[in-house]
Amino acid sequence: MANLEEVQPIAQENIPETAEKKSPPETKKAEQPNSLEKINENYGAVLDHREAQYDKDIEAKPEMGAMRSNLEMHNKIVLGYAGELVEAMNLPDEQRVAAIIATIEHDSGKLASGLLDHHEQGTEYAGQMLDGLEGQEFEGVTITPEIKQKVMEAIERHMNHPFLVMLNKGERFPEPKDDVDRVVFDADMMANAGF
Ligand SMILES: [Fe+2]
Repeated sequence: MANLEEVQPIAQENIPETAEKKSPPETKKAEQPNSLEKINENYGAVLDHREAQYDKDIEAKPEMGAMRSNLEMHNKIVLGYAGELVEAMNLPDEQRVAAIIATIEHDSGKLASGLLDHHEQGTEYAGQMLDGLEGQEFEGVTITPEIKQKVMEAIERHMNHPFLVMLNKGERFPEPKDDVDRVVFDADMMANAGF
């Protein structure tokens, strides 16, 4: 049996400095490439479209109005994570733009449809919106039919939160297949207060 007294304690001077001590000087949030402030600046047309859609959907179904503030909070948290993920994954520009637009729109259908089919409504809304934005540029990337398709796929494939799968009687939704899908999906999971 090992003699516990022989186990030498780690000398204090051998413990590496904590990450906290070594952290670089703080960068102001707005200076980070994908801070929420920057995303708000660069994607105003998409954000406005989503908000206008929420307005219309609440007009049609006033009882959904109570969900809006939770949804707004969820949307911001997911978008913050998506901004960090596209940076960490170093995605090419087209994919980065598609991922951010898809994230903004991922729950755009939530006030107009049921929990288990809001991806379908959101996909339709995003498609309509991007038809209207075709040819416009976001961060130097022009909206093309290919970008529209990628955004729609990523929204379609954002649903496999375990809670939603359970509500869906164990049947899974379309799975994420590529990096753009994974940004939306992972950011949504990281925000795990919603789905
Ligand atoms: Fe969702």
